[in-house]
Parts: sequence; C-alpha cells; structure tokens
Amino acid sequence: MTKELPNIAVLGATGVVGREILNILEENKVEYKSIKFLASARSAGSQIEFKGEKHTVIEANEQAFEGVNICLASAGGETSKKFAPIAAKKGCVFIDNSSAFRMDENVPLVIAGVNDEDLRKHKGIIANPNCSTSQLMLPLKALDEKYKVKRMIVSTYQAVSGAGLKAINELTDNTKTNLVGMPYEPEAFKYEIAFNVIPQIDVFCENGYTKEEMKVTNETRKILHFDENVKISCTAVRVPVYIGHSESVSVEFENEINENDAKELLKNTWGVELRDDISTFTYPTPKDAAGKNPVYVGRIRKSIAFDNGLDFFCVADNLRIGAALNTVRIAQKVIEMELY
Ligand code: A2P
Repeated sequence: MTKELPNIAVLGATGVVGREILNILEENKVEYKSIKFLASARSAGSQIEFKGEKHTVIEANEQAFEGVNICLASAGGETSKKFAPIAAKKGCVFIDNSSAFRMDENVPLVIAGVNDEDLRKHKGIIANPNCSTSQLMLPLKALDEKYKVKRMIVSTYQAVSGAGLKAINELTDNTKTNLVGMPYEPEAFKYEIAFNVIPQIDVFCENGYTKEEMKVTNETRKILHFDENVKISCTAVRVPVYIGHSESVSVEFENEINENDAKELLKNTWGVELRDDISTFTYPTPKDAAGKNPVYVGRIRKSIAFDNGLDFFCVADNLRIGAALNTVRIAQKVIEMELY
C-alpha cells in the first residue's frame, strides 16, 4: 500500500444502518487516517460512541465533505441525491446505500466479492444494492459461473428493520396492542404487521410489480451482467420479523445441474454458509442469521418444476450483507484497490 490512508465519513451515522456501519467498522480491519460522523441538523452536536471514545455528530453540509476521501452513506435517497454529487466533486468516493443512483450507468452497483472489478469504473459514486438483491448475489454468482442462469423466481420474506426504526417500533407496539385485544392504527405499513404478512413493499409499478420487486430483477441483471434473455421475477413480502430477510429461490439453468455438486459448490463459496441437512432439521432461519455476516443457504433440492432447476432457501441479516456490511466491504476494496 503506497497511497496515504483515507479520511472517512459516515453519513447517517445516527440511523439504523449507520449504527450498524459503525459496529462493523469496529469489528473489521478498515485502515483510515481519520473518521467523522455526519447526520442531519436534528442530531448535530449529539455524541456517538465509537471504539470506546465519544465523538460529536456533525451536520452534513457542503463543507463537511471537505478533505473526506471516502463517505459511507445511509441517510435516504433525498439526502444522497443532494450530497453525493457535491462530495464526488470534492474528490470523495461516495458509497451510497440508497436507491438514488443504483441504475445510473455511470455508477457501479457492487457486491464485494462478486463484481469488484466494476469498482474501477466509478466516477465518484458507488451504489450498494437493495437488501433483497444483495443476499442473493453471493450464492447466485457461484451457481451462474458453473451452470449459467436462464430464469429465476424469487419470493421474499422481509424483516421490518428494512423499513427503518419507525417500522421496528411499530411491530412491537402493534404486537402489544393485539395481545391485549386493543385496536391498532398502522403508520409505517399499509396494514397491521403484527401476526400478519403484507404482500407489498414500496409502491406499485405500471406492470403490477412493486418497485422492490423490480429492484431484484434490474439490480441482479446489472451486478451479474445478465442480458434481457435472463428472466427474473420476484414477489416481495413483509413479515413480522425484526431482523433477517429470507428468500425462497427457484432457478433454471442452461447447463445440467446436480444437486450434490451444487451443495459442494456453495459450501466452498466465499461469504456463503451452508445450513443444509434435513435429516437433522438443519436449515437457515432469520433468528440464526441476525447479527451475523454470512448468507445462509439451505433446503437445496433439484426442482421438480424446471428441467435443470434448483430450489433453495436463503437467509441473511438484512442490515449487514443487505446494507452496512457490504458498504464497509466496498470501502475496504476501494482502499485495497487504491480507487480513492
Ligand atoms: P438524524 O438522526 O439527524 O435524523 P433511519 O433510516 O434509521 O431513519 O436513519 C436515517 C439517517 O439519515 C439518520 O442518521 C438521519 O439523521 C440521517 N439523515 C436524514 N436526513 C438527513 C439530512 N437531510 N442530512 C443528513 N443526514 C440525514
């Protein structure tokens, strides 16, 4: 490493994902010269504890990005739209968790360990994929390299933490009121989330799919460089789970697939952990995945609906691989590859 270590900033440091970024920065070996913590004017001046020391939160404004080489951002789409171009102009690499720039052709959309080379094309902004797409990419890339994906159908079971702090609190309050038989007026969700599942995440598009569902289709194509011939369909569902998205995935491949070879392949895939032994009822659940880094895969079986098809269940901590962990891993790659 010849380049001087970077000055880094965490934008949205007081939010659900921002705090997880700080936890992961504490756990991981990310080398930097200095670090600062940015949020809105509302929390400017408040204290954040990081690596055993208290730090003052600074208001994000134009000046705050002066001298910052890498910004890890999770402060919502509007904030990113406002600050990413400003930061990039000042020479900062802005790693964005929002959906604002994901499909911009000048912005690499990256899962660390899957398409790292795309990072070299950045022009100041790098996007972190949507949580449902993110956790699928590590197993899918490995399977695609060997068997070549032709078609994929995904159903998601997504935790409330993906919708922020308000949604987390709503699950608690809604559950408590239900248990004592009181009525509840939902705010974060269209319907009550307690003891319920909601087949709508984000708004509906003209084709009847939701934006969340189309993210899985479009972002997967961009990350894995799939062309239009690879067909991908998703149904995204919110479930009353705090942390951990689950996905039921059916994939049809060009090449003949052998279930045991696929298991062996996934067992040896970086970032993936196999939880797959039905004889001992071993399969992944969100409770096991919460707070952990791997993407857990289980229930692997040869499809009886598709020729050359494989079905599996995939679970991960949506705040980690789906957001904060991948953001930190991208920052690590940017530093290692000296792309700042
Ligand atoms: P703040 O705590 O000052 O509101 P969450 O997704 O959990 O709601 O977190 C959103 C994060 O984005 C918080 O850290 C929040 O800061 C930050 N944020 C929201 N709006 C802005 C803004 N206009 N400028 C900077 N940070 C913002």
